[in-house]
Amino acid sequence: VTPLETPGAGRPYSILSEAEVGRIGELRRRYPNGRSAVLPALWILQRRQGILTADGMREVARALDLPPGPVEAVASFYSMFFFKPHGRYVVEMCTSMSCMLNGAGPVLRTLERELEVRTGATTDDNLATLLEVECLGACGGAPAAQVNHHFFENLTPERASRLVADMRADGLIGEIPPAAAAAGADGHLHPLPTGAEAAAETTLVDLANPGANRLETVPAGPAGSVVDLIKGHGVLLNPSEHPAERGYSGAPATEAQ
Ligand code: FES
Repeated sequence: VTPLETPGAGRPYSILSEAEVGRIGELRRRYPNGRSAVLPALWILQRRQGILTADGMREVARALDLPPGPVEAVASFYSMFFFKPHGRYVVEMCTSMSCMLNGAGPVLRTLERELEVRTGATTDDNLATLLEVECLGACGGAPAAQVNHHFFENLTPERASRLVADMRADGLIGEIPPAAAAAGADGHLHPLPTGAEAAAETTLVDLANPGANRLETVPAGPAGSVVDLIKGHGVLLNPSEHPAERGYSGAPATEAQ
């Protein structure tokens, strides 16, 4: 079989760093077919750029020794990949069956009201992008949302208000690195808080040793809130740091009426 020609093969990378190209190559070597490594490679790109650009996806394809088509096809299938600039927080509210039956509508309306933004849009200060998504696979905790890919379950309008208040209280705009903040002022990129620090190894599941990098303790942060959980300090959630313990989740029956 003659390998497909990869456009740009042999050219230097201008978006991905040398370490990131190396990491993608390492992921590639774990599989007989480079297509199997497209998803984690796209995560690396998104954490580099904040969104997926056409040039970036071409570099991912080149690093995987694939034509760009399969990479773009995978990227466009999943809602967790972004092609447009987004806010510092990406709030994805599930409105599929279980969540809708358990009150996703009032929660979504609360998020719109508190964030002062319509679903599908980004707040004027780039704090948050509010999206309506299909089932997140957390139906047992419906209504559920993800904020920067971290789950928040059994949401109520009150909990949604707290979530937004915590985002505002974090003062994240001031924490955005100067280069990204400058880009944001022009309406460009805002990397996710779980972004650059997690680009290569830390939050990607180690496929050769699943679970090995998932359970480090999340250090308590100054905000002591959703913000700490989302930032995660480069690791995924520890069961002992589940949002339920911070009051964002748990049985709705315990909620004060
Ligand atoms: S229906 Fe909302 S998580 Fe499944």
